[in-house]
Amino acid sequence: MIRYFFISLFLAVFAALAILGFRGSFTTNRPIEIFPDMDHQAKFRPQSPTDFYANGSAARAPIDGTVAREMPAQNDYLHTGKIGDKWGDGIPLPIDADAMKRGQERFTINCAVCHGPAAYGNGIVKEYGLSTVANLQVARIRYMADGEIFNTITHGKNTMNAYGPNISVEDRWKIIAYLRAVQRSQNTLLSELPESLRAKYTPAAK
Ligand code: HEC
Repeated sequence: MIRYFFISLFLAVFAALAILGFRGSFTTNRPIEIFPDMDHQAKFRPQSPTDFYANGSAARAPIDGTVAREMPAQNDYLHTGKIGDKWGDGIPLPIDADAMKRGQERFTINCAVCHGPAAYGNGIVKEYGLSTVANLQVARIRYMADGEIFNTITHGKNTMNAYGPNISVEDRWKIIAYLRAVQRSQNTLLSELPESLRAKYTPAAK
């Protein structure tokens, strides 16, 4: 009795292997799929036609007002630094002492490591080999439009990474306001100071 059991077990295994095996061989027939998993899905592929939608296209346009992640929610100066297709100038936020403090704090955390506390491009990172760090006290950057600097912080530039994902829009502008103060602190004529302060400083020797 037990012998017949083994014979039929052997035949069953042989038949199963004969039908389901040979996965490495080529055939033009459709495979027998015992477990089709998710090989066949009712889905639309991009760029392919479909009868389902009236215009015959499987691709759908985004719903009006949809904004992709990481894209500026608005296209205005505050979010892009641009007015029309030119860099704008000016800080589009009210700047008071608190805003400057915030800018100082954020600049110290995010920028000073590379650009240095007084923005001369001599931060600690430079000593460790990032030799391309820009000196932000040069005339080109001092007279650069605020909007262009906003864009550099947001998207990075050449060898500087983008800080848009890490620093909020408002903080980026406050950093610029503070950077302007830092630049000013290194480039002010004695005659531009209020009279009461002049006595405290001696002009640098020419
Ligand atoms: C990890 C180092 C690093 C940090 C942090 C960093 N920068 Fe830079 N930055 C650079 C380097 C490097 C350059 C020079 C880019 C180039 O032209 O290759 C640069 C260039 C610049 C420029 C000049 C861009 C131009 O148009 O030439 C500005 C402005 C600037 N950084 C502002 C900032 C501000 C503001 C922050 C803080 C939010 C900041 N950077 C943080 C490395 C850094």
